[in-house]
Amino acid sequence: MSDRSRSDRSDRDYPPIPESAQPSVWATGQVCSREQRRGRYLPESLAHPGKMLPSIARYLISTHTTIGDWVCDPMAGIGTTLVEATHLGRNAIGVEYEPRWATLAAANLRHARAQGATGRGDIVTGDARHLPALIPAELRGQIALVVTSPPYGASTHGHVRTPGPRRGKVRKLDHRYGTDADNLAHGTHAELMEGFTRILTGCVAVLRPGGIVAITARPYRRHGELIDIPGMVAAAGTSAGLTLVEECAALIAGLRDGRLVPRASFFQLKNIRDARAAGDPQWLVQHEDVLLLTAGGAR
Ligand SMILES: C[S@@+](CC[C@H](N)C(=O)[O-])C[C@H]1O[C@@H](n2cnc3c(N)ncnc32)[C@H](O)[C@@H]1O
Repeated sequence: MSDRSRSDRSDRDYPPIPESAQPSVWATGQVCSREQRRGRYLPESLAHPGKMLPSIARYLISTHTTIGDWVCDPMAGIGTTLVEATHLGRNAIGVEYEPRWATLAAANLRHARAQGATGRGDIVTGDARHLPALIPAELRGQIALVVTSPPYGASTHGHVRTPGPRRGKVRKLDHRYGTDADNLAHGTHAELMEGFTRILTGCVAVLRPGGIVAITARPYRRHGELIDIPGMVAAAGTSAGLTLVEECAALIAGLRDGRLVPRASFFQLKNIRDARAAGDPQWLVQHEDVLLLTAGGAR
């Protein structure tokens, strides 16, 4: 900062923002996730423990690809990336390890097509550590954009069932992946990142020149300790030969009249309240970190 304080400066002192510049904080939480999915995804989709917010996938795809481009999600879950891509006239290919979710992703893609989505969409059941061997050979070197997110552990906050007064405990639902140990959700963080590095190495092999890998991740707390998943993801990207070019924040909270409207889960709120009551001034995380990486070449 120069000799004048920032508050002394007028707007004219700052260089104009180029029209092409993209914001680094995205208003992706204006509509809550359940409403974003209503009618657009089959109702069974709610049972997946770690879905991406459709608006985040949509924002990434519309910003970084054009109609007819190929988009890939190697950890596709219920197919959020694929469904949003096909609605935007892009073609999409995904891989998902658990047959339950891969079957649902295929059904969501059929549902999207029935609703008028014009892009092609396909899902393969398999282990994305072998991504280049799983997708059709003609797509290698053709993928414009990868949009994905790793699992952080075998269990998430899921949904809650609150009993009536004095009728037992609050129950968690839909908070676990299947039990197959090869699902990367079940490994240690070191194993998860080793597997994720292999998946990203496969992404490099299928990207077209100048293609982009976008990864959403969130730090989370385990036994009170903050686990830096975005930092681990960035390190995995570098090990896979990718270069981190941008880090953005996709809001989960809404914005109304200049204020944030939080969209926290029951257990997120409970954990924060408990921590604060114990003197640990934790904050409610209301965004996903989005890391954008390239394998080199012109964007
Ligand atoms: C965070 S979720 C992604 C959810 C997805 N973005 C969506 O909106 O449905 C991560 C997914 O990776 C899957 N997965 C875990 N290990 C995998 C592997 N080795 N290969 C492919 N998918 C894997 C999990 O089953 C889970 O569905």
